[in-house]
Amino acid sequence: MGTGNDHKYNEAREILGEYGIELERLSIERVEIQADEPEAIAEYSLKILNMDIPLLIEDAGLYIDKYQGFPGPYSSYVLRAIDNEGILKLMEGDGDRGAIYLSAIAYRDGDITATFRGEVKGEIAHEKRGTGGFGYDPIFIPTEGDGRTFGEMGVDEKAKISHRARAFKQLAEWLVKQV
Ligand code: IMP
Repeated sequence: MGTGNDHKYNEAREILGEYGIELERLSIERVEIQADEPEAIAEYSLKILNMDIPLLIEDAGLYIDKYQGFPGPYSSYVLRAIDNEGILKLMEGDGDRGAIYLSAIAYRDGDITATFRGEVKGEIAHEKRGTGGFGYDPIFIPTEGDGRTFGEMGVDEKAKISHRARAFKQLAEWLVKQV
Protein backbone atom coordinates (compact mmCIF):
# COMPACT_ATOMS: atom_id res chain seq x y z
CA MET A 1 0.00 0.00 0.00
CA GLY A 2 1.37 3.40 -0.90
CA THR A 3 0.24 6.12 1.49
CA GLY A 4 1.79 8.96 3.43
CA ASN A 5 -1.11 8.89 5.89
CA ASP A 6 -0.35 7.01 9.14
CA HIS A 7 -4.04 6.82 10.10
CA LYS A 8 -5.05 5.25 6.79
CA TYR A 9 -2.20 2.75 6.94
CA ASN A 10 -2.91 1.76 10.56
CA GLU A 11 -6.65 1.35 9.91
CA ALA A 12 -5.96 -0.82 6.87
CA ARG A 13 -3.25 -2.91 8.54
CA GLU A 14 -5.48 -3.55 11.55
CA ILE A 15 -8.34 -4.95 9.44
CA LEU A 16 -6.14 -7.10 7.18
CA GLY A 17 -4.25 -8.35 10.26
CA GLU A 18 -7.51 -9.85 11.58
CA TYR A 19 -7.47 -12.10 8.50
CA GLY A 20 -3.77 -12.95 8.85
CA ILE A 21 -2.88 -10.77 5.85
CA GLU A 22 0.24 -8.62 6.09
CA LEU A 23 0.32 -5.12 4.67
CA GLU A 24 3.51 -3.28 3.78
CA ARG A 25 3.81 0.39 3.18
CA LEU A 26 5.62 1.70 0.10
CA SER A 27 6.89 5.22 -0.36
CA ILE A 28 5.75 5.96 -3.88
CA GLU A 29 4.51 9.11 -5.55
CA ARG A 30 0.87 8.45 -6.34
CA VAL A 31 -0.68 10.00 -9.46
CA GLU A 32 -4.31 10.99 -8.87
CA ILE A 33 -6.58 11.70 -11.82
CA GLN A 34 -9.74 13.79 -11.57
CA ALA A 35 -12.84 11.60 -11.66
CA ASP A 36 -16.15 11.53 -9.81
CA GLU A 37 -15.87 7.90 -8.66
CA PRO A 38 -13.15 6.88 -6.18
CA GLU A 39 -12.86 3.50 -7.94
CA ALA A 40 -11.71 5.20 -11.16
CA ILE A 41 -9.09 7.22 -9.25
CA ALA A 42 -7.72 4.20 -7.38
CA GLU A 43 -7.71 2.02 -10.52
CA TYR A 44 -5.76 4.57 -12.54
CA SER A 45 -3.21 5.20 -9.77
CA LEU A 46 -2.64 1.45 -9.61
CA LYS A 47 -2.53 0.94 -13.38
CA ILE A 48 0.41 3.24 -13.92
CA LEU A 49 2.50 1.65 -11.15
CA ASN A 50 4.93 -0.64 -12.86
CA MET A 51 5.80 -2.98 -10.00
CA ASP A 52 5.65 -6.74 -10.04
CA ILE A 53 4.35 -7.33 -6.51
CA PRO A 54 0.80 -7.57 -5.11
CA LEU A 55 -0.25 -3.92 -4.80
CA LEU A 56 -3.22 -1.95 -3.58
CA ILE A 57 -4.25 1.68 -3.80
CA GLU A 58 -7.05 3.14 -1.71
CA ASP A 59 -8.88 6.34 -2.55
CA ALA A 60 -11.29 7.87 -0.08
CA GLY A 61 -13.31 11.00 0.38
CA LEU A 62 -16.24 12.76 1.97
CA TYR A 63 -19.35 13.29 -0.19
CA ILE A 64 -21.89 15.84 1.09
CA ASP A 65 -25.46 15.21 -0.19
CA LYS A 66 -26.60 18.82 -0.39
CA TYR A 67 -23.56 19.81 -2.49
CA GLN A 68 -23.82 16.97 -5.03
CA GLY A 69 -21.01 15.05 -3.40
CA PHE A 70 -18.60 17.95 -2.81
CA PRO A 71 -15.74 17.74 -1.79
CA GLY A 72 -15.63 14.07 -2.99
CA PRO A 73 -12.56 13.60 -5.20
CA TYR A 74 -11.21 16.94 -3.97
CA SER A 75 -11.38 15.96 -0.30
CA SER A 76 -7.70 16.35 0.51
CA TYR A 77 -7.39 19.62 -1.44
CA VAL A 78 -10.48 21.12 0.24
CA LEU A 79 -9.19 20.11 3.65
CA ARG A 80 -5.86 21.80 2.91
CA ALA A 81 -7.55 24.88 1.47
CA ILE A 82 -10.44 25.60 3.85
CA ASP A 83 -10.22 22.84 6.48
CA ASN A 84 -13.18 21.65 8.57
CA GLU A 85 -13.96 25.24 9.57
CA GLY A 86 -14.58 26.06 5.90
CA ILE A 87 -17.02 23.16 5.52
CA LEU A 88 -18.85 24.21 8.69
CA LYS A 89 -19.08 27.78 7.42
CA LEU A 90 -20.35 26.63 4.01
CA MET A 91 -23.05 24.60 5.76
CA GLU A 92 -24.09 27.28 8.26
CA GLY A 93 -27.89 27.24 8.42
CA ASP A 94 -28.19 24.06 6.34
CA GLY A 95 -30.84 21.65 7.60
CA ASP A 96 -29.86 18.81 5.27
CA ARG A 97 -26.49 17.72 6.65
CA GLY A 98 -26.36 14.21 5.15
CA ALA A 99 -22.99 12.96 3.92
CA ILE A 100 -21.22 9.76 3.07
CA TYR A 101 -17.61 8.64 3.36
CA LEU A 102 -16.47 6.43 0.50
CA SER A 103 -13.39 4.25 0.24
CA ALA A 104 -12.38 2.39 -2.91
CA ILE A 105 -9.53 -0.11 -3.12
CA ALA A 106 -7.95 -1.21 -6.39
CA TYR A 107 -5.88 -4.40 -6.03
CA ARG A 108 -3.54 -6.16 -8.45
CA ASP A 109 -1.47 -9.33 -8.21
CA GLY A 110 -0.01 -10.26 -11.60
CA ASP A 111 -2.96 -10.66 -14.00
CA ILE A 112 -5.54 -10.63 -11.22
CA THR A 113 -7.22 -7.30 -10.52
CA ALA A 114 -10.18 -6.42 -8.31
CA THR A 115 -11.88 -3.32 -6.93
CA PHE A 116 -13.82 -2.91 -3.69
CA ARG A 117 -15.96 -0.12 -2.20
CA GLY A 118 -16.87 0.61 1.39
CA GLU A 119 -19.21 3.34 2.58
CA VAL A 120 -20.59 4.80 5.78
CA LYS A 121 -23.51 7.20 5.98
CA GLY A 122 -23.62 10.08 8.40
CA GLU A 123 -24.16 13.76 8.99
CA ILE A 124 -21.96 16.82 9.19
CA ALA A 125 -21.86 18.10 12.77
CA HIS A 126 -22.53 21.75 13.64
CA GLU A 127 -19.11 22.06 15.26
CA LYS A 128 -15.85 20.14 15.46
CA ARG A 129 -15.82 17.48 18.16
CA GLY A 130 -13.00 15.16 19.25
CA THR A 131 -9.33 14.88 18.50
CA GLY A 132 -9.19 11.28 17.26
CA GLY A 133 -8.88 10.10 13.67
CA PHE A 134 -7.85 12.52 10.94
CA GLY A 135 -9.19 14.72 8.17
CA TYR A 136 -12.94 15.21 8.38
CA ASP A 137 -13.42 12.88 11.36
CA PRO A 138 -14.13 15.69 13.90
CA ILE A 139 -17.15 16.84 11.84
CA PHE A 140 -18.53 13.46 10.68
CA ILE A 141 -21.25 11.77 12.78
CA PRO A 142 -21.91 8.20 11.55
CA THR A 143 -25.61 7.29 11.42
CA GLU A 144 -24.94 3.92 13.04
CA GLY A 145 -23.27 5.50 16.07
CA ASP A 146 -24.59 7.23 19.17
CA GLY A 147 -24.24 10.82 18.01
CA ARG A 148 -20.49 11.12 18.52
CA THR A 149 -18.23 12.12 15.65
CA PHE A 150 -15.51 9.78 14.35
CA GLY A 151 -13.11 12.23 16.01
CA GLU A 152 -14.64 11.32 19.39
CA MET A 153 -14.18 7.58 18.81
CA GLY A 154 -11.14 5.39 19.34
CA VAL A 155 -9.47 3.65 16.40
CA ASP A 156 -11.16 0.32 17.21
CA GLU A 157 -14.58 1.89 17.44
CA LYS A 158 -14.18 3.71 14.11
CA ALA A 159 -12.88 0.50 12.53
CA LYS A 160 -16.15 -1.30 13.34
CA ILE A 161 -18.14 0.86 10.94
CA SER A 162 -15.82 2.97 8.82
CA HIS A 163 -15.86 3.12 5.03
CA ARG A 164 -12.21 2.04 4.99
CA ALA A 165 -12.83 -0.90 7.31
CA ARG A 166 -15.69 -2.06 5.09
CA ALA A 167 -13.66 -1.85 1.90
CA PHE A 168 -10.68 -3.64 3.48
CA LYS A 169 -12.94 -6.36 4.94
CA GLN A 170 -14.25 -7.07 1.45
CA LEU A 171 -10.72 -7.21 0.08
CA ALA A 172 -9.63 -9.53 2.92
CA GLU A 173 -12.58 -11.90 2.46
CA TRP A 174 -11.90 -12.03 -1.26
CA LEU A 175 -8.14 -12.63 -0.75
CA VAL A 176 -8.79 -15.44 1.71
CA LYS A 177 -10.94 -17.18 -0.93
CA GLN A 178 -8.16 -16.86 -3.55
CA VAL A 179 -5.72 -19.16 -1.69
P1 IMP B 1 -7.17 10.24 -0.34
O1 IMP B 1 -7.21 11.01 -1.61
O2 IMP B 1 -7.70 8.85 -0.45
O3 IMP B 1 -5.81 10.26 0.31
O4 IMP B 1 -8.15 10.90 0.73
C1 IMP B 1 -8.70 12.15 0.52
C2 IMP B 1 -9.02 12.88 1.78
O5 IMP B 1 -10.26 12.41 2.27
C3 IMP B 1 -8.05 12.70 2.93
O6 IMP B 1 -6.97 13.56 2.87
C4 IMP B 1 -8.93 13.09 4.10
O7 IMP B 1 -8.97 14.47 4.16
C5 IMP B 1 -10.30 12.58 3.67
N1 IMP B 1 -10.57 11.28 4.28
C6 IMP B 1 -10.54 10.06 3.70
N2 IMP B 1 -10.81 9.10 4.58
C7 IMP B 1 -11.01 9.72 5.75
C8 IMP B 1 -11.30 9.24 7.05
O8 IMP B 1 -11.42 8.05 7.34
N3 IMP B 1 -11.41 10.20 7.98
C9 IMP B 1 -11.27 11.52 7.72
N4 IMP B 1 -10.99 12.02 6.55
C10 IMP B 1 -10.86 11.11 5.55
